[in-house]
Amino acid sequence: MKIAIIGAGAMGCLYGARLSTVPGVEVYLLDVWKEHVDAINASGVLMEEQGDLVAYTNVKAGSSAEDAGPCDLAVIFVKSTLTSAAVKSNKAVLGPETIALTLQNGLGNIELIREVVGESNVIAGTTAHGATMLGPGKIRHAGSGKTIIGELNGATTQRIRQIAQVLQEAGMETELSDNVLGLVWDKLLVNVGINALTGITRLLNGELLEHPEIVELLEDAVSEGRDVALAQGIKLGFPDPVAHTKEVCIATATNKSSMLQDVLNHKKTEIDMINGAIVREGEKVNIATPVNKTLTNLIKFIEKQ
Ligand code: PAF
Repeated sequence: MKIAIIGAGAMGCLYGARLSTVPGVEVYLLDVWKEHVDAINASGVLMEEQGDLVAYTNVKAGSSAEDAGPCDLAVIFVKSTLTSAAVKSNKAVLGPETIALTLQNGLGNIELIREVVGESNVIAGTTAHGATMLGPGKIRHAGSGKTIIGELNGATTQRIRQIAQVLQEAGMETELSDNVLGLVWDKLLVNVGINALTGITRLLNGELLEHPEIVELLEDAVSEGRDVALAQGIKLGFPDPVAHTKEVCIATATNKSSMLQDVLNHKKTEIDMINGAIVREGEKVNIATPVNKTLTNLIKFIEKQ
């Protein structure tokens, strides 16, 4: 199976590196960061994991999708602010038979990818792994969790089973779901509770739970999001999304969330697709979301600094 990873940030590198260990799998990491691409081609992806440093050298990296050509699977891992542009500029890996899998954070990625590759070629899912970029070619795997994927129409197809099997062989615990939209919201609510708060406070995921005043905000932000989801008729996978978010804080305790990493690197964050999305979706169903509005505005202020 030939696999392209569109967006070789920390998460893209984690999945690409692990997939490259599966016999018969060929992995191309596509990214615009030249120094990072060069470092991977010279020494592989260096992954720090529980104190060990492992080099995954069976990967090719590049900035041009033309070099990779059409793939069987393209995993989209760019930040959700870049989804549309990244899918369009990497169209060369997306042949008529290519399956595009989004495991990104935030709301709206499925729709953006579908516009470029067509409905039947898109599958979606979520990941509970955490990873941090340490420098060109080097990442830290900061926390493990499940990968859950599914067809948009909920069917258990041969292709979805095959992709789950490859992920499983790559050492990523993987499950299938017949409720992808619910899955995307489950993950969205985790990001709603963790990402903006870590970006504002600069705490690690696990440290959020050490401060009662922050825990209260986490609970309120996630509860607002849950109310919006339920009002929209979304079937959430977790009966208690607040408790689930706290479990993810613990499972990824030493992780700098992706939004904190963006804040520290002075990059645009995914706030509009996370807490900002809750505000927008809340307006559609007349649910007030003051905590999410406040978190969104504070992150937008920080982005301007
Ligand atoms: O965005 C992130 O950082 C991750 O989705 C998560 C699960 C919050 C772990 O850091």
